[in-house]
Amino acid sequence: MNSIENFIRGIPKAELHLHIEGTLEPELMFALAHKHGVKLAHASVEELRAAYQFDDLQSFLDLYYAGAAVLRDEDDFHALTLAYLRRAHADGVVHVEIFFDPQTHTERGIAFETALNGIRRALADGEREFGITHRLILCFLRHLSADDAMRTLEQALPYKDMIAAVGLDSSERGHPPSKFTAVFERARREGFLSVAHAGEEGPPAYIYEALDLLRVSRIDHGVRCEEDPVLVERLAREGMPLTVCPLSNVKLRVYQRIEDHNLKRLLDRGLRVTVNSDDPAYFGGYVADNYLALQRGLNLSRDDIAQLARNSIDASFISADAKRKWLGEINCFVSAY
Ligand code: HPA
Ligand code: ZN
Repeated sequence: MNSIENFIRGIPKAELHLHIEGTLEPELMFALAHKHGVKLAHASVEELRAAYQFDDLQSFLDLYYAGAAVLRDEDDFHALTLAYLRRAHADGVVHVEIFFDPQTHTERGIAFETALNGIRRALADGEREFGITHRLILCFLRHLSADDAMRTLEQALPYKDMIAAVGLDSSERGHPPSKFTAVFERARREGFLSVAHAGEEGPPAYIYEALDLLRVSRIDHGVRCEEDPVLVERLAREGMPLTVCPLSNVKLRVYQRIEDHNLKRLLDRGLRVTVNSDDPAYFGGYVADNYLALQRGLNLSRDDIAQLARNSIDASFISADAKRKWLGEINCFVSAY
């Protein structure tokens, strides 16, 4: 491994934009399909991987929801989550904030608790085994109704101590954040923090809505903010974090090539951008692969990489003490290099 790769893998970092259902590798998908007698649309792991050629967000989501159908019992969610934590640990991740999509499972008759308990058990095991700390973020599927999201929020209320925040994912275009204003208002009253996908495929107007109506603490993706200089200025002034996912953006054709990605421009404008893997089993890489691709494509310096790692800690939902500790560890790592 050359030294920049060592630097990228070794620097302590947080991952803040990770859909647990998007870490389902084809091998595990086939093993679970076999376990439960579920028939998959593809004949082999190779055929399935070969089908991961997307034109846009929706073409990916169709495969992602079909794949998630093999997740049926608590052990499946546990195996999925623990496999992700093992990969994250190898990439120098010290803290994760994981999205899960309960509606993807409750819609097909799997109990809310089955997903939640399996994921939580793995997070506890991962903390013990790898020292990775965690928060859970419950995402509402924006292609479903606001009433459905409200019912999902109500299902989560008994588990509020286990869920740090709510989020918003799935098909962005035609489903603006404003559709969920009342749900996020209720979530806020119940004590949840919030985040939302906005400005991945949707316009800058959706980012304004996420900020002003949903009152989020972070914008997931947000890369289309660049089309509105006033918005860029505001995001910089407010120190609003963006959880950017570069390999995802290229796979879903938000950018045609990694060399075209705007992350370096946003970083140089002083935005609090972070690097994340989104759905690593589908987009060709875990978090360190995302840093590496960017480093090569945009010629990032070690200072840039260190800033991205600091941003990931800063933008996380851990305590001020824990932030201080990890920022100190990052400084030690950088000066030792
Ligand atoms: N965007 C929107 N919804 C999603 C994504 C994404 O990148 N991944 C999983 N659900
Ligand atoms: Zn996402």
